[in-house]
Amino acid sequence: MILAAPTPAAWVDAACVHWRELLIDHANCEKKAASSALALIFAYPEDQELCAALSRLAREELRHFEQVQQLMRRLQVTFERQRPGRYAAGLRAALRAHEPARKIDLMLAGALIEARSCERFALLAPRLPQPLGAFYASLQQAEARHFELYLRLAQRAIGNGDVAAVQSRLRALAAVEAELISGSDEQLRFHSGPPAAYLPERAAIAGAPLKRSAAPCRAEVPPA
Ligand SMILES: [Fe+2]
Ligand SMILES: [Fe+2]
Repeated sequence: MILAAPTPAAWVDAACVHWRELLIDHANCEKKAASSALALIFAYPEDQELCAALSRLAREELRHFEQVQQLMRRLQVTFERQRPGRYAAGLRAALRAHEPARKIDLMLAGALIEARSCERFALLAPRLPQPLGAFYASLQQAEARHFELYLRLAQRAIGNGDVAAVQSRLRALAAVEAELISGSDEQLRFHSGPPAAYLPERAAIAGAPLKRSAAPCRAEVPPA
């Protein structure tokens, strides 16, 4: 795994309780993953290999979006507009602006986002009730393929077989990404940090009981 820090347990606890809110954001994430892949196709039209690979990726992400929508209907989760989290903007701010460095950074950022999704699906799958758990387990494998694709594209973009240069830049961006998911956040998002109320020190200050457990979540899911 390429991530510099694991997801905090407090985020997983919050996600298990607020799975409906998370599912709405998840639908947005799938849309954003497709639109980011399309944006890269427009940004680098001369790179035919990149265009072919990201066209396939965009279609797969849209298929995930449709699957999340179906699940939302089945679980009676109604769509609500959500304020975007700070993750995407925070990561974007760390990218270099000049080419060819920008292309390399965009590929590495894509790899980190997909790797974080992969890690979080794996953490949530055994904790969430069905059919959510099985769905997240299936998406984990797709996200693993996606982060490997973006890593390969980054390696191609840097060229000359310079593996050390890719690794060095990956470590720098992974540190930024780790910081973004580790600190407390105002709102729960798929790529956020834990909401403040779920952090042990805040909960202790507020005298609130900690909602930390490795047990499966007992979320109310309507029967299939
Ligand atoms: Fe996806
Ligand atoms: Fe993906």
